[in-house]
Amino acid sequence: MSILFEPVRINRLDIPNRFVRSATNDGGADPDGYVTDRQVALYDELARGGTGLIVTGAINVHPHGQILAFQKRIDTDGHIKGLARLTEAVHRHGKCIAVQLFHGGAEAGAYSAGKGWSAGAPSHLGEDSQFPFFKGEYRALDETEIASLITDFGQGARRAREAGFDAVQLHGAHGYLFSQFLSPYINRREDSWGGSLENRLRFTVEVYREIRRQVGEDYPVLIKLGVQDSFPDGLLFEEGRKAARLTAELGFDCLEISSGARGSGWKETEFRTGIRKVEEEAYYRLWCREIKPDVGVPLMLAGGLRSFELMEEIVRQGDAELVSLSRPLIREPNLVQSWKEGDLRRSACISCNKCIEQLVLGKMALCTQLEKSGKKPAS
Ligand SMILES: Cc1cc2nc3c(=O)[nH]c(=O)nc-3n(C[C@H](O)[C@H](O)[C@H](O)COP(=O)(O)O)c2cc1C
Repeated sequence: MSILFEPVRINRLDIPNRFVRSATNDGGADPDGYVTDRQVALYDELARGGTGLIVTGAINVHPHGQILAFQKRIDTDGHIKGLARLTEAVHRHGKCIAVQLFHGGAEAGAYSAGKGWSAGAPSHLGEDSQFPFFKGEYRALDETEIASLITDFGQGARRAREAGFDAVQLHGAHGYLFSQFLSPYINRREDSWGGSLENRLRFTVEVYREIRRQVGEDYPVLIKLGVQDSFPDGLLFEEGRKAARLTAELGFDCLEISSGARGSGWKETEFRTGIRKVEEEAYYRLWCREIKPDVGVPLMLAGGLRSFELMEEIVRQGDAELVSLSRPLIREPNLVQSWKEGDLRRSACISCNKCIEQLVLGKMALCTQLEKSGKKPAS
């Protein structure tokens, strides 16, 4: 049997295989962030399709952190019941599910327009900033607001545990709130939340401590960490690598390695296009390989994984313990089960990113290639 089908342990959680569905916002919640029937069906399909650990899409710990319509929320106890339907659907198939706790920071600016609040971020970049992703209004958070956000993440984790999730993961990548704090370009604060790497990482550290207070030591707490920004003057890998070591030393039970704040064009994002050959896959593998000796916890590698043999080699060589996929499982939710049954064909995903475009248009993130081939309608 392939190593990819061997179990792996994170804290006290036993995951039945090495395949993770990397967090994927599906755009299928109701307008108030409650779970819908179509989301329950989606998670059921993914768990039945073989993926060992499913990480939800980014779920808001506070409504002001929301970046897109129809994102799930976990900011009230009233959301627990619907979220529990997701955990039940996944557990029924013997698989595991983690919630991804999220706040968009400055990136929540565009969605918040006209809603009566303004988005909060580590700092404001000034009128002359060319930063391409901060499209709406946003402002620097004050100390009281930072303290209140730390509480929000702790409460989100508590609700996740109550809803039956097996783990929580902080979204610390891709230029959202944690990643904004970590980035020396975006975080221009001169107080104890900005400046040195330790200060820029402090928000992550304080959120981690609050989560532990809420869920205890035996509950798996993960982070998806952006270890390098994709534009000049952003976070450099040497600092990202150090941040990975510090988060593991702090007590995070597993790190998923990805990129930090985005640059312009798909090439400068976590969802690169044009992955045609095996050499173009696994574009963050070298980061994982360099971080691995510094940390004593399992790593997950995300980004462009398409070929079974390559994933097997990555895990066998010890670059990562788990492999994390998003777009291939939108295209083929049954992919892992097919591989288990011996059909080792490469993922059919062509990385066209139409699923992401659907999401931005307020639709569900489905595969438009399937729609074209008449196999499945995109809503
Ligand atoms: C439709 C869509 C939604 C996504 N939503 C999230 C998200 O909510 N949180 C997150 O950390 N990454 C999100 N991602 C990024 C993926 O988790 C992953 O890091 C990236 O797509 C690269 O992996 P892939 O080549 O397997 O797609 C999303 C990707 C897609 C395609």
